[in-house]
Amino acid sequence: MSDTGMNKKVQIHEGDPNTTGHEWDGIMEFDNPMPRWWLWIFYATIVWGIGYSIAYPAWPLVSEATNGLLGWSSRGKVQAEIAMVEAANAPVNAKLEQLELDRIPSDPELSGYAVSAGSAVFKTWCAQCHGSGAAGAKGYPNLLDDDWLWGGTMEDIHTTISYGIRNEESDDARYSAMPAFGRDELLGKEEVSQVVNYVMSLSGEPQDASQVAAGAVVYADNCASCHAEDGSGDRTQGAPNLRDAIWLYGGDYETLHETVWNARYGVMPNWDTRLSEAEIRAVSAYVHQLGGGE
Ligand code: HEC
Ligand code: HEC
Repeated sequence: MSDTGMNKKVQIHEGDPNTTGHEWDGIMEFDNPMPRWWLWIFYATIVWGIGYSIAYPAWPLVSEATNGLLGWSSRGKVQAEIAMVEAANAPVNAKLEQLELDRIPSDPELSGYAVSAGSAVFKTWCAQCHGSGAAGAKGYPNLLDDDWLWGGTMEDIHTTISYGIRNEESDDARYSAMPAFGRDELLGKEEVSQVVNYVMSLSGEPQDASQVAAGAVVYADNCASCHAEDGSGDRTQGAPNLRDAIWLYGGDYETLHETVWNARYGVMPNWDTRLSEAEIRAVSAYVHQLGGGE
């Protein structure tokens, strides 16, 4: 086969660019330069990329990314937005902190603000225990009704929320402790059963009537000092009303027996170290208007 036969296909003209030297079955590749516009855009992206990674957080390191000279961060941006909202709310928060507690609910402008801010606080910090609708659960009081363990005025609610109940973190926490009558052998089995039946008679739960008279005596000796002679409770000690058939733990025989035998020790955290005074006042106003505020 002659050389000319093979090379005939390859036709390079005067003025053609150089070839790259690659050849496939006689087809060769021109070494065309990249178009100018493409190259400039390409260089521009490199320059922009370098500039960006100097100015903004870019390169991931072990625990965080490089910070960037501008100091921008998405967290900082959110903080700036929060700061803006806080600045806008500062005057009304200041007023909320200054007004006497019991005047907040009757100040239309302030109470509207407090209730909506308080509802947000409640959903974030309180709903996990008291329920998102504040209806409570076993051991966690319903905040919708007018049955209060510790009191339902703005002042009472504010104190409860600020310092909490039976927690160890606040020296001002509300405190009281019902004795464990059975476990600590303050009462015998028979007496516990009698007093439970007496308690059931107070709220009209079906009870063993033969035990009630003896139970009344046990009650007067052991329970009346906290739950009052007539069973209506004592808010200074957080001792529930036993006559109203609204139960924190339950009003059936088994549950009442458990309550009297082992006692209960409901704990609520204090919020004075976690929330601002304005937030505590807002959530107090929110709870106060839920239905049972006094
Ligand atoms: C970890 C669970 C828990 C969280 C969170 C919690 N509470 Fe409580 N709260 C309780 C318990 C338990 C009681 C009842 C304690 C007792 O038995 O006296 C209570 C009682 C109360 C009372 C007293 C009710 C009464 O009848 O006197 C109010 C008011 C209250 N909580 C409001 C709030 C608010 C507002 C928040 C959020 C800022 C909140 N709680 C967060 C557990 C919680
Ligand atoms: C030192 C005060 C004190 C004494 C004495 C006391 N209690 Fe209590 N009792 C309380 C407190 C405080 C609570 C609320 C406990 C909690 O929420 O953790 C309570 C809760 C209860 C409850 C739960 C009510 C509910 O809504 O579920 C019952 C029932 C009860 N007590 C019955 C009795 C009986 C019966 C006696 C006497 C044998 C008695 N208590 C003596 C303070 C007392």
